[in-house]
Amino acid sequence: MRRPVIAGNWKMFKTVEESEAFIDALAPLVEDSTHCDIVVAPPFTALSAVVKRIQGTRILASAQNCHWEKEGAFTGEVSCEMIAETGARYVIIGHSERRQYFGETNDTVNRKIGAALRVDLTPLVCIGESLSEREQGQTERVLETQLREGLAALTDLQFSHIIIAYEPVWAIGTGRTATPQIAAEAHRFIRGTLATFFSASLASETRILYGGSVKPDNIKGLMAQPEIDGALVGGASLKADSFASLVNF
Ligand code: PGA
Repeated sequence: MRRPVIAGNWKMFKTVEESEAFIDALAPLVEDSTHCDIVVAPPFTALSAVVKRIQGTRILASAQNCHWEKEGAFTGEVSCEMIAETGARYVIIGHSERRQYFGETNDTVNRKIGAALRVDLTPLVCIGESLSEREQGQTERVLETQLREGLAALTDLQFSHIIIAYEPVWAIGTGRTATPQIAAEAHRFIRGTLATFFSASLASETRILYGGSVKPDNIKGLMAQPEIDGALVGGASLKADSFASLVNF
């Protein structure tokens, strides 16, 4: 059985104070939510504060990005060692906003995955096609390339620690969610592709999350698809009551 994951990507939102208030509001609402892993990804400035605040709760913390080197002259970057030291357990890698605005490539995704695994951070690896790629019938080619290059040279053991997030770029922040059928179809393709790179049993155990305008009113339909193992949520994860209703789908 693949245990569901509901993850909130806060992007560039929330001060330390707002982050702490969010955790205080969320914790009681998800106290009994033992059916899934609950992850929040605050900005770096709030990561340590959030890790302290989630002690004794079922909530886990994630970074939104990382560098692949342990340390060095890389102004503005944060290493996986530094992230792990905060007590965060996950790191989002290859989000489409990082690919689009900050030059993230499948190659940097691959390096970052290696760096995260080195210190036992769980990589939440994002892939997804743009609207024009979908319209040109390129979706499968794009997903296959992102997986092949992003996961290149990983051993089965390394791969077994990874979570994939399918996030069609046209659905992120647009209010235009993929239908459960469209998402499930992409998830089936992703799982089938993974089975060609790694063992079929590993591919069947891999958790594949859907992301892109997930909201309290559409999560049930998405989670009803056996292929969809959870959600990576942006906008609707920023309010505690909304995120709690996603967790308690
Ligand atoms: P959204 O963002 O839920 O606001 O569409 C999803 C994401 O970027 O992970």
